[in-house]
Amino acid sequence: MSQNESESIGPVITIDGPSGSGKGTICKLLAAKLGWNLLDSGALYRLTALAAKHHGVSSDDEDALQVLAAHLDIQFVIQEGEDELQVILEGESVTQELRLEETGNLASLIAAIPGVRTALLDRQREFAQLPGLIADGRDMGTVVFPGAQLKVYLDASVEERANRRYKQLINKGLDASLEEILVELKKRDERDTQRAVAPLKPAEEAIMLDSTSLTIEQVLEIVLEEARHRGLR
Ligand code: DC
Repeated sequence: MSQNESESIGPVITIDGPSGSGKGTICKLLAAKLGWNLLDSGALYRLTALAAKHHGVSSDDEDALQVLAAHLDIQFVIQEGEDELQVILEGESVTQELRLEETGNLASLIAAIPGVRTALLDRQREFAQLPGLIADGRDMGTVVFPGAQLKVYLDASVEERANRRYKQLINKGLDASLEEILVELKKRDERDTQRAVAPLKPAEEAIMLDSTSLTIEQVLEIVLEEARHRGLR
């Protein structure tokens, strides 16, 4: 039996927003602080993109992409002494490849295909388990968990998001161009907000947060306070 929204187990906090808004960091911290489960839905779209790349499936072959998404063979493995999860796709570690800009862009392309989104729906809802779930994505509050107890839409100016991404890459010792990152982010925003199915947009009842001039700690505190208001902690 597929799990639909009314069967989701335990409370859900959704955090949606564009690339680079700080969602990933905030979601990890929230999950750790509350001791809840974490769904990084972008990783599922990225893994579908990588599966397509590895199998030589073109980004416009909708039927083949839908089949790949429905049968993703993935494992998330915690390695001793490391805080990042190892991600295994079809028996092969893809932890580094998963985070490449190229992978994110391909994920954004195939995420516009309705069949791919439907194929990933049940898998995402299965993450809703006790004691609760922090769901990170683009359509968590609007489509995947419409009944979530707290919905947050986290935004930041595109310049600030590009700047953050640039600094991350430079700190990792990688080559990066701020101008190119800005152009790519704008393209990704356009695709993610303009697609016909489950576009990135705030849920009606979402709390709107702009992290442009807020620290991670400040955003975290605001979300925790909203969770407290709703009796979620
Ligand atoms: O959050 P991310 O950068 O890992 O996501 C990669 C792409 O996947 C994003 O540009 C659009 C797509 N995505 C989506 O369509 N819906 C989600 N819930 C999460 C990600």
